[in-house]
Amino acid sequence: MKIETTMGSFLKEEGKEEEFLVDDVDEVCERSPPTMATIMLVMTNLFVMFLFCFFKVAYDTISCYFLTPRRIKKIMEKQGVRGPKPRPFTGNIQDVASLVSQSTSKDMDRITHDTVNRLLPHYVAWSKQYGKRFIFWNGIEPRLCIAETELIKELLTKYSTKAGKSWLQREGTKHFIGRGLLMANGSDWYHQRHIAAPAFMGERLKGYAGLMVDCTKNMLQSLQNAVESGQTEVEVGEYMTRVTADIISRTEFDSSYEKGKQIFHLLTELQSLCHQATRHLCLPGSRFFPSNYNRQIKSKKMEVERLLLEIIQSRKDCVEIGRSSSYGNDLLGILLNEMEKKRSDGFNINLQLIMDECKTFFFAGHETTALLLTWTVMLLATNPSWQEKVRAEVNEVCNGESPSIDHLPKFNLLNMVINESLRLYPPATLLPRMAFEDIKLGDLDIPKGLQIWIPVLAIHHSEELWGKDANEFNPDRFASKPFAPGRHFIPFAAGPRNCIGQSFAMMEAKIILAMLISRFSFNISDSYRHAPVVVLTIKPKYGVQVYLKPLNS
Ligand code: HEM
Repeated sequence: MKIETTMGSFLKEEGKEEEFLVDDVDEVCERSPPTMATIMLVMTNLFVMFLFCFFKVAYDTISCYFLTPRRIKKIMEKQGVRGPKPRPFTGNIQDVASLVSQSTSKDMDRITHDTVNRLLPHYVAWSKQYGKRFIFWNGIEPRLCIAETELIKELLTKYSTKAGKSWLQREGTKHFIGRGLLMANGSDWYHQRHIAAPAFMGERLKGYAGLMVDCTKNMLQSLQNAVESGQTEVEVGEYMTRVTADIISRTEFDSSYEKGKQIFHLLTELQSLCHQATRHLCLPGSRFFPSNYNRQIKSKKMEVERLLLEIIQSRKDCVEIGRSSSYGNDLLGILLNEMEKKRSDGFNINLQLIMDECKTFFFAGHETTALLLTWTVMLLATNPSWQEKVRAEVNEVCNGESPSIDHLPKFNLLNMVINESLRLYPPATLLPRMAFEDIKLGDLDIPKGLQIWIPVLAIHHSEELWGKDANEFNPDRFASKPFAPGRHFIPFAAGPRNCIGQSFAMMEAKIILAMLISRFSFNISDSYRHAPVVVLTIKPKYGVQVYLKPLNS
């Protein structure tokens, strides 16, 4: 066997190849036994390399845990930005936890929408003391909280690639959404956004309306069955969760819908397992321990990816053997088609990325929409006059038919109600960003590595921005007054990195609510306990129970 050493190939150019071409590996060993000096040299090199690595890791750790946070603190203090005193290592985590557990320990006395004191008590306390911009500490990580709408607009519109998702956020979600769009950063995000965007626009978006109507019909039938079996009270959240899961499974995987549903269940389990991640990530390297928790995560993740691969492979096979000319018109098909186009532009997208995007759409698009629907039903159930007005509008527009794409722009009152629901109960209560380089935000110099938190819920409830009735349900505020999207109404974030599924979600919400309201009337049940809580998103702690009355009886 002939082998050519690297040095040999280098020296080929010098015309000395014969000296370094050897016939056999064994021969090499026989010809030049390593001397003591060579061994010492290798050992010394290894030792130097070890020392280098050791000091590098030590320096990076010290820099990450102490030097960088201190540097950031100093820079911000110089600009007059202060905040509560952090404890060593845990920062203000305990303060936040104890304030929130105190404020949410009881249900609210009555159904009011004044939820900021309850859900963001730390924000209320610290903004009173330190103003609209302050710093608090999540362990060793400094977080700048800003509620100034001009600065927020600038951050969201100008810095979509220079600010993004932090390492900690990405770690916490990597098992269930990986590096999909929601957690991508910089130029990866930019490319992924361009691949996914066509799936949520124009004719493609309109094409999902029929599926949404079909899924809603099934949901209404199960509500009807519940009523006919003597049940007068239902927990709306369950039904909304089911119908939105159904819709996303169908729009994403169309014919492979049954597998889609399986994937959905596994992902929900994975997500709840990963919620415990903060506890498990505490010890460095703990994710590598062969614990029961880690094993469970690994096996569920593998099962999800196995199912996804099966679906993707069967699509690819159909195209390769010529049975189909495209990968399909569902979300997955559109992603695969776009991937092909991008491949010819030289951007390399692998299967893992496609799988991560599929998981991301499930995660980002399902619970948020279910919560929007659940809170809107609660608001309509407690405001019968608005319920009547919306029903009259739907009946007039649809005239007994199922809603179609042409009907949707005519649902003005319904649109106002949905916006008011998103304002009072924005599913994403906070928007986090991390600065990847030094940036200038208004008069503030933001150093690389600083996390910026936008308290969406507090901005949506600000009397200064919305007037004295900021905590009241008043959809009329969306009738004429410009509400400056991107500034103080940001349920879907704003700028280039806003929610890619915004139009999808609004279309879905309008179809489901229009069909529900024309089929049933509903009042809030005596058993409903008003107790919003934040667990990533803003949720009704005990669900939303309503009395349901079919309208055709
Ligand atoms: C009422 C429903 C929804 C709400 C309130 C909502 C809200 C948001 C918000 C606030 C963001 C920005 C998050 C951040 O940058 O930290 C976001 C991003 C995103 N949303 Fe939605 N969303 C909804 C529905 C959907 C749907 C139906 C889909 C897809 C089917 C979807 C897919 C995404 C994706 C992929 C991103 C990441 C976009 C990017 O980073 O470029 N969302 N959403």
